[in-house]
Amino acid sequence: MFSLRIVLFSLLVAAVTCEDLDFPPGFQFGAASAAYQVEGGWNASDKGENIWDRFVHEKPHIIADHSTGDVACDSYRLWRRDIEMASDLGLHFYRMSIAWSRLLPNGFANKISEDGLNYYNNLIDGLLEKGIQPMVTLYHWDLPQRLQDLGGWTNPLIVDWFGDYARVVFSHFGDRVKSWITINEPSSICDIGHGSEIMAPGWQDPDNAVYLCNKYVLLSHAKAYRIYEAEFKAKYQGELSLANHLMWYEPFSPEDEELAETAREYIVS
Ligand SMILES: *[C@@H]1O[C@H](CO)[C@@H](O)[C@H](O)[C@H]1NC(C)=O
Repeated sequence: MFSLRIVLFSLLVAAVTCEDLDFPPGFQFGAASAAYQVEGGWNASDKGENIWDRFVHEKPHIIADHSTGDVACDSYRLWRRDIEMASDLGLHFYRMSIAWSRLLPNGFANKISEDGLNYYNNLIDGLLEKGIQPMVTLYHWDLPQRLQDLGGWTNPLIVDWFGDYARVVFSHFGDRVKSWITINEPSSICDIGHGSEIMAPGWQDPDNAVYLCNKYVLLSHAKAYRIYEAEFKAKYQGELSLANHLMWYEPFSPEDEELAETAREYIVS
């Protein structure tokens, strides 16, 4: 027992003195959320309905305990407390998403919600006051229902709708936000959301909608990227990317090698 203690103690000393365990300079700690996961306030002020609102209200059986994001973490009301917690945790950055239909209630850029603008301005300013960099996702799965009714991600026009939305976001928040993610996980949005019933919009059309969606989601990312590059980059010097959901496939047996390669190529978005 005694010797075991000594060994453990030595290991501990070795561990805490080992320089290799230090995080490199500039390493940043952060936390991440998505609007639908945390905001609640699903019908607050003039916010428009989105596809997750519709999905959980119309198909409560999809969620095991029938819970919804109607209130969620109530971050629409409790954002000041969120910022305090992020600060207490010592976060360097906080990744959050903007709810498209909170900013543009009908999905289109011809009507901007004042309350939506205020909410995100307060959140961004509050984070920066605590020295926490906001990293903002434009689209984390919550398409305005109005746009879904027009075909959503399978309608080629969405590339322009998303571009218009992105321009509104960049022009209002780009002075303070320097890290942007255009779209979170195209493969989840398209392969799951359009090929199965388990995620909004639950389209279940694996032969057609999935492919159209993947195409127009990627073109929408490109559109937003080019808009930032042409209209905002020189002024604001921010960076943009998308967040991929990556998977890797290994063949079960040598005959499955080609299949595995097809799967790897397919999942790349
Ligand atoms: C908002 O939704 C809640 C249910 O989550 C409902 O009780 C309330 O009446 C709704 N408010 C408005 C203004 O529609």
